[in-house]
Amino acid sequence: MRVLVTGGMGYIGSHTCVQMIEAGMTPVIVDNLYNSKKSVLGRIEKLTGVSPAFYEGDIRDRAFLDSVLAEANVEAVIHFAGLKAVGESVEKPLEYYDNNVHGTLVLVEAMRAAGVNSLIFSSSATVYGDPASVPITEDFPTSATNPYGRSKLMVEECLTDIQKAHPEMSITLLRYFNPVGSHPSGEMGEDPQGIPNNLMPFISQVAVGRREYLSVFGDDYPTVDGTGVRDYIHVLDLADGHLAALTHKGREAGLHIYNLGTGNGFSVLQMVEAFSQSAGVEVAYQIAPRRPGDIAECWADPAKAKAELKWEATRTIEDMTTDTWRWQSANPTGYPEL
Ligand code: NAD
Ligand code: UD1
Repeated sequence: MRVLVTGGMGYIGSHTCVQMIEAGMTPVIVDNLYNSKKSVLGRIEKLTGVSPAFYEGDIRDRAFLDSVLAEANVEAVIHFAGLKAVGESVEKPLEYYDNNVHGTLVLVEAMRAAGVNSLIFSSSATVYGDPASVPITEDFPTSATNPYGRSKLMVEECLTDIQKAHPEMSITLLRYFNPVGSHPSGEMGEDPQGIPNNLMPFISQVAVGRREYLSVFGDDYPTVDGTGVRDYIHVLDLADGHLAALTHKGREAGLHIYNLGTGNGFSVLQMVEAFSQSAGVEVAYQIAPRRPGDIAECWADPAKAKAELKWEATRTIEDMTTDTWRWQSANPTGYPEL
C-alpha cells in the first residue's frame, strides 16, 4: 500500500514511516522541514534498509501537492503536517490557522482532484477541552481554549462536513493523548527546538544535563499526588494505531473517530520517578505555579479503537522512559543538521 505521509519527517510521522515500512507499506513523505531535519531520512533508512521517497515542500502549495500526487500513485494520506505548540499559537494565531486549517483544506482539494479518497488526520485530546470526567470516550463534548486546539477542532469540523458532502470519502480523526518515547534503537526520537513545552522532553533534558531542573506546574490538583495526570502513550504504539486505522476502517467510506491512548493516567511526579529509575539519574525538580490552561486529569477510554481497529497500546511506562533515555543520551542535542 502506497501512502502519502505529510509531516513524515517529524516526531510521530518518522516513527510511523518506520512501522509502515516494517509492515510492507510504502510511505511517500511530504515535509517543509519547518520543525524537522533532513537527517531523519538517513535514520529511517538505517532502521529499515529503505529510503522513502521524500518531497520537500509545503502542503499549502497546491501546485506542489498536485505534482507529488500525480507522481506518487498513493491510495491514502496520513496528515501529520502542522504546527503544535500551544503557547506559540496564542502569539501567532494566523500562522496556526494558516498551516493547520488552510493547509488541510489545500491538501483535501488536491486529494479530490487526484481521486485519493482516504485521509487519516492527526487530531488531539485537546479537542475535549476540560472534560467533565475521565476516562474520555469519543462522544464527549468538544471545545477549545487556545488557537492550537481551535485549529484542530476546526479541521475536525471541516473534514466532517466534507465527508458528508462526499460520502465516498473515508476520513479518520485520530485523537492522540500524550505521545512520548522513542524508537528502541535510540536512532529516532523527539527533537524539540528551543525550550521544550512538554513534560517528557523537559525531563529528559534535565536528566542529560541540558537543563537544571524541571518546574512541576502545580501540586494542588485533586489527583493522586496533587500533580497533573495524563495518558502517556509510546510513540510506536501510536504509530501502530495509524497502521491499524489504514488496515481496518481507514479506507472504508465514512467518518471514523478514535481515541489513541492507553487508558491509564500517570502524574507528573510518577513520570519523574519512572524516568529516574530508567535513566539511573536523579531528575531535579521544583514545584511551580499551575500553568494556565492546564487541566487536572485526562485519560482515554480506548475501547472503540480496540474493538474496531483491533489495536491497543502494549508498551509500558518503563518502555517509554527507557527508550526516551536511550535516544536522549545517545543524541544529547538531537538530530544532526544535515
Ligand atoms: P512535528 O512538529 O515533529 O512534526 C510535524 C511535521 O510537519 C514537521 O516535520 C514539520 O516540518 C512539518 N510541517 C509543518 N507544517 C508544514 C507545512 N505547512 N507543510 C509541510 N510540512 C509541514 O510534530 P509531531 O509531534 O510529530 O505531531 C504531528 C501531528 O500530530 C501534528 O499535527 C500535531 O498537531 C499532532 N499531535 C501531536 C501531539 C504531540 O504531543 N506530539 C499530540 C496530539 C496531536
Ligand atoms: C499539551 C497541550 C495539548 C497538546 C499536547 C501535546 C497545553 C495546555 N496542552 O498537553 O494541547 O495536544 O501538549 O502536544 O499546553 N508539566 C510540568 N512541567 C513542564 C511541562 C509539563 O509540570 O515543564 C506538566 C503539565 O502541567 C501537565 C503534564 O506535565 O500536567 C503534561 O504536560 P504536557 O506534556 O505539556 O502535555 P499536556 O499539557 O497534556
